[in-house]
Amino acid sequence: MSITQQARYSTGAIVFHWVIAILVIVNWRIAEGAEHLEGAAKAASIAPHKAIGITILVLSILRLIWRLTHRPPAPPEAVAGWERILAKTVHVIFYVLLIGLPIGGWLASSYAGFPIDYFGLFTIPLFPVGVNFDTAGAIIDLHKAGGTFVLALVVLHVLGALKHSFIDKVPGLSRMWFGKNA
Ligand code: HEM
Ligand code: HEM
Repeated sequence: MSITQQARYSTGAIVFHWVIAILVIVNWRIAEGAEHLEGAAKAASIAPHKAIGITILVLSILRLIWRLTHRPPAPPEAVAGWERILAKTVHVIFYVLLIGLPIGGWLASSYAGFPIDYFGLFTIPLFPVGVNFDTAGAIIDLHKAGGTFVLALVVLHVLGALKHSFIDKVPGLSRMWFGKNA
């Protein structure tokens, strides 16, 4: 980094952020749409949810590696200490859940013995666990709760970004958007 203060996240971090954010919202909508279906209809509509979820898993692991190798911009000085801690905590939980939730879904599919088809291109291997519907059901309950929790955090996260940009008038959204960096 040069002596000048870095104003925004790296371009790679920005691309990861927005691609993953869109996929998470789309995947949540697909899961909600499948909630009240049964049998073959449910399996058909949850199939893209599983494939998109695996995509989010892969992208989130790459993103975490990117994050650990690219320094983020320092928080604006005007942002209060508690807000920095809250924002950082939410970011860490996002990373944990964006990796943990899809692994949970993958594990539940493995316990249920249900295949994971990747957009008709290939099949993702299941974890070598025996079929156990009780365990699959317990993991899916956690998965659903985790999915709801992520969405609650997204609301908090967006409110924080909007507050910084429009109420505190410190750099907020611009830090996660393309543009000059210094
Ligand atoms: C970050 C990625 C993911 C998110 C945010 C997510 C979120 C959710 C949410 C919110 C639900 C509950 C919908 C409802 O009934 O209200 C759900 C259901 C489900 N998810 Fe995921 N999911 C993700 C990845 C995956 C993956 C990778 C798999 C499997 C490979 C998977 C398998 C399932 C299944 C089978 C259900 C249906 C449960 C049922 O209604 O019986 N999910 N997911
Ligand atoms: C599913 C949706 C989303 C997820 C999972 C998510 C996740 C994250 C994560 C993990 C970071 C921290 C980046 C890092 O330090 O590595 C971040 C930063 C950020 N996000 Fe999101 N985000 C989502 C949606 C949004 C939306 C809709 C907005 C804006 C309206 C937004 C605005 C921002 C901003 C401005 C930052 C930079 C925070 C800073 O100043 O340091 N995000 N987001």
